[in-house]
Amino acid sequence: MDQGTTLTQFIIEEQRRIPGATGDFTSLLNDILTACKKISCAVNRGGLIGILGSAETENVQGETQKKLDIISNDVMIEALDWTGHLAGMASEEMDDPLPIPDMYPKGKYLILFDPLDGSSNIDVNLSVGTIFSVLRCPEGVENPSVEDFLQPGTEQVCAGYALYGPSTMLVLTTGHGVNGFTLDRSIGEFILSHPDMKVPETTREFAINMSNQRFWPAPIKRYVDECLAGEHGAHNKNYNMRWVASMVAEVHRILTRGGIFMYPADSRPGSENGKLRLMYEANPMSFIIEQAGGASHTGRQRIMDVKPEGLHQRVPVILGSREEVEVVVGYHGDGKDGGREVA
Ligand code: AHG
Ligand code: MN
Ligand code: MN
Repeated sequence: MDQGTTLTQFIIEEQRRIPGATGDFTSLLNDILTACKKISCAVNRGGLIGILGSAETENVQGETQKKLDIISNDVMIEALDWTGHLAGMASEEMDDPLPIPDMYPKGKYLILFDPLDGSSNIDVNLSVGTIFSVLRCPEGVENPSVEDFLQPGTEQVCAGYALYGPSTMLVLTTGHGVNGFTLDRSIGEFILSHPDMKVPETTREFAINMSNQRFWPAPIKRYVDECLAGEHGAHNKNYNMRWVASMVAEVHRILTRGGIFMYPADSRPGSENGKLRLMYEANPMSFIIEQAGGASHTGRQRIMDVKPEGLHQRVPVILGSREEVEVVVGYHGDGKDGGREVA
């Protein structure tokens, strides 16, 4: 019986196509997978082992952390710090990059991650995920500083996310398309279930937190008003709307059936550049969406071209089906229409 291609087999076969590959990167990916399986177990058992709810601490962005935010962060660190493949790690839940402890060998990669994305959904048993982005550590750097992490999204070696939904899935790109794997719990392996994922070019589905409408810049207001006007509006078609409040879940839906996702800049204090973080949310998701044929933009600039200025920097995000993203970007025009000068 054909048991399917395991993710381990898939990445080893990919490695064989790269002349001179040492297997370091393949091992790193395997260690990331192990961490995601552990987080999946913790998320799955949640209420049974008393790990739902708030930890009553705040992260560097002033957001209240859930117990599972901290547990997932710890799982990532424990799974990755000893491996010898990394020179440093950075996370949404840590103020500064975490150096590799002296007792372990150092490797040539850097990883940035959002250990638990959409964690406001955890207590209501909706989908959450883990997002990661892998960069090369600059040549000759032993102890990377923040600046060494501040590389544009175009420099990513790999990006992926785990989705802890009805099934646990792992979706991955190394710059050669996007592939999706489903965790078969009976054997503990991710199996290739969604080869060569593609974002449909057109869509009739948008995702945005409508409760912020009064704070949006003009181009976003205009686009959403036109969607709401349906077939009698400028787009001549009726739209559907979804908002899960979990970027992993929204991106996964868009990879599966198309759509446009927006978290724009808005006029609330602290939201001048939106909410999502460039380094461990916007960049990895942009790499995945572009590799699947979609587009990802701030409205002013391709997200992966943004020159990072801070580890926890936020960025407006407009991503998904190419044609629709281009319409919204077009509305940003020359900046005289209320679109913010950001990024
Ligand atoms: P996180 O749980 O890692 O802080 O990320 C949540 C993010 C993102 O996943 C989601 O799209 C967005 O925040 C939802 O924000 P609102 O609650 O403002 O809708
Ligand atoms: Mn997040
Ligand atoms: Mn998070």
